[in-house]
Amino acid sequence: MSLFEQTQLGLIEVKNRICMAPMTRARCPDTVAGDSVAKYYAQRAGAGLIITEATQISSQGTGSIATPGIYTAAQIEGWSKTAQAVHARGGKIFAQIWHTGRVSHPSFHDGAMPVSASAVRGNCHTFTKNGYEATPQPRALGNSEVVDVVTDFRQAAVNAIEAGFDGVQIHAANGYLIDQFLRDGVNQRDDSYGGTVENRSRFLLEIVDAVSAAIDSGRTAVRLNPFTVSFDCADSNPKSLFLYVARQLGERNLCFVDIVERGLDPATADVVAEVAKDFTPKDFRRAYKGNLVVNGLYDKDRATQATKNGYAQMVGIGRPYMGTPDLAERWEQGQGLNEPLDMALWYGGGDTGYTDQVALNP
Ligand SMILES: Cc1cc2nc3c(=O)[nH]c(=O)nc-3n(C[C@H](O)[C@H](O)[C@H](O)COP(=O)(O)O)c2cc1C
Repeated sequence: MSLFEQTQLGLIEVKNRICMAPMTRARCPDTVAGDSVAKYYAQRAGAGLIITEATQISSQGTGSIATPGIYTAAQIEGWSKTAQAVHARGGKIFAQIWHTGRVSHPSFHDGAMPVSASAVRGNCHTFTKNGYEATPQPRALGNSEVVDVVTDFRQAAVNAIEAGFDGVQIHAANGYLIDQFLRDGVNQRDDSYGGTVENRSRFLLEIVDAVSAAIDSGRTAVRLNPFTVSFDCADSNPKSLFLYVARQLGERNLCFVDIVERGLDPATADVVAEVAKDFTPKDFRRAYKGNLVVNGLYDKDRATQATKNGYAQMVGIGRPYMGTPDLAERWEQGQGLNEPLDMALWYGGGDTGYTDQVALNP
């Protein structure tokens, strides 16, 4: 299959196999995605599918400054501008729904501790109004509170559809709350959500089932990072954990599963190299029977290869999309990309480094 051929993923028809990967840009100071957010995503609507930046499902799910939410009327109204603007340019867009868990700070919670699977502190930091601050020891969610978070994910998905999104991606990757339940380096619970691989996967699968029941599995996607480690959230046996998760998700007729194949953080390179010795994306592909989106350091050649040989249905492109809004069009026309965006402009600020990147195909 060509990178530029349309295809059907669940209930979603996409015009090409290029997916803009979710990227936090921290330009929503009041947690509402405003006009410039709509403009930014509309500029990138040449992608077959856009996945938005991580968007919190509740106030409790907040862990970083200027990130958007999707749990108040104003947030839903704000996001509807983005969905409309992307659709007007012929694109499709999913909201990435997110609970940060322990990757948070009391300043987001009126002084209360962030929550997690267990009261295990991560060796990590987060952006607060006072700068880059260490995350504290979290409080373990009680059994009934876990059920409340599942309900919050479900409601966030319903809100996303109300805002006009084509579907949602459940953020189960990169060390946030769902990943904190999945991995035994953080999850030390002794109830039905902890212990065995089956129990640690229960929270994710309950969320997937609740969201699928509410908005249809054909509009529901999941993101995982089976091969990398983020925010100090590690597992003693990622192969056994993620092959189980792959098989379970494969039975659920989802729109797609999106796997982060490679890490960007040099500090975790050793752990990643250790995992790669006996667990690779090909193993995941064999275990997961469904549409697959792959991501991590893909360029045009590798993306072409991954879709041509049937390994992946779409390829997620992250950083290059920040600097080149018309990346899909340029790849199709054989044109080069703009210079990568300066890292100093990734997070926060105004339109500079955001909606001002030059398109050859405006
Ligand atoms: C500025 C920035 C923000 C990111 N924010 C998110 C996010 O909100 N959710 C997520 O799942 N991944 C996030 N990521 C990870 C990207 O989706 C992607 O996995 C990573 O950039 C590797 O893909 P690439 O090599 O194509 O850039 C972010 C990455 C960057 C650079």
